[in-house]
Amino acid sequence: MPLIAVLAGDGIGPEVTAEARRVLEALGLDLSFEEAPVGGAGYLATGRPLPPETLALAKRSDAVLFGAVGDPRFEALERRLRPEAALLGLRRELGLFANIRPASIFPGLEDASPLRPEIVRNLDIVIVRELTGDVYFGEKGRRETHEGLRQGYDWMSYDEREVERIAIVGFEMAKRRKRKLCSVDKANVLETSQLWRDVVNGLAGDYPEVELTHMYVDNAAMQLVRNPTQFDVIVTGNLFGDILSDQASMCAGSIGMLPSASLNAWTGTVGMYEPIHGSAPDIAGQGKANPCAAVLSAAMLLRHSLSDEASAQRVEKAVAGALAAGFRTADLGGSHTTSEMGDAILKALA
Ligand code: IPM
Ligand code: MG
Repeated sequence: MPLIAVLAGDGIGPEVTAEARRVLEALGLDLSFEEAPVGGAGYLATGRPLPPETLALAKRSDAVLFGAVGDPRFEALERRLRPEAALLGLRRELGLFANIRPASIFPGLEDASPLRPEIVRNLDIVIVRELTGDVYFGEKGRRETHEGLRQGYDWMSYDEREVERIAIVGFEMAKRRKRKLCSVDKANVLETSQLWRDVVNGLAGDYPEVELTHMYVDNAAMQLVRNPTQFDVIVTGNLFGDILSDQASMCAGSIGMLPSASLNAWTGTVGMYEPIHGSAPDIAGQGKANPCAAVLSAAMLLRHSLSDEASAQRVEKAVAGALAAGFRTADLGGSHTTSEMGDAILKALA
């Protein structure tokens, strides 16, 4: 029986993860669930944001259902004790280098986007973000300049194997979709990006059916607002992907709608599934959070870790059904609560 590790975390994490779990349970599959604290909750329970028991559970599970981490109470702690360290630790320890972030718009949500409806209608893009390298995991620290000034530094780098494996995920994804891959970098300035571009170009011959283009990240940020439907699959590094995926979420109406999967290979067995929104401490515990991103992350879990495409589509249709029935949380301009939205999804599932 597949074991799902439920790491709900901080802020709205527990509320939205509870709805995602309810949906998974309602499918009638043979699944077992085990919960463990992570992030600020992990720190409170054990003094460490990623307790060893939590990491061990994640490692022996078939998939990780993740909520969110981040808690302003712990912002002043040293970096390795902050909630975010748990997320970065899980990504590194599980080898989750491929982050799949789809951004598509559900019919009826065009008006929830701050962009004009005609700009975002039919939006359906996937951002493939590298997740275990780049400036996130390079050497970092503080030092003093020769003038005695405090200086902070973070080393940006990619080696060719890191670029190749994420580029393959991008090509494979594009191959199964509209066969357009846009690689986003800053090769006009960064040597890391020039290597990235060279490696991506080197793979293009293996995928003659995929149309490959390159775009600088500043231009990509502009194009995502100007004409987001020009994109099919975007492949990019860790930092650029972090920024562009938040931006893409606004094209899709609300950050409360966007799921993600973090995988250890294109045909990976290890996966962690989380909404891309954060812990939103300002609305935590008030029943205001949108559970759709968490529920859609559960759908990705079914698809990628349990190879159950039929159940994944059932869940996605149920979310669309709840939206079509008029259910909207506050981020979508409505006033339904987290659990009312969850109930509506369950009803649509039945
Ligand atoms: C994300 C988040 C994380 C990141 C933070 C919480 C460390 O913003 O998953 O996009 O920067 O990767
Ligand atoms: Mg982010």
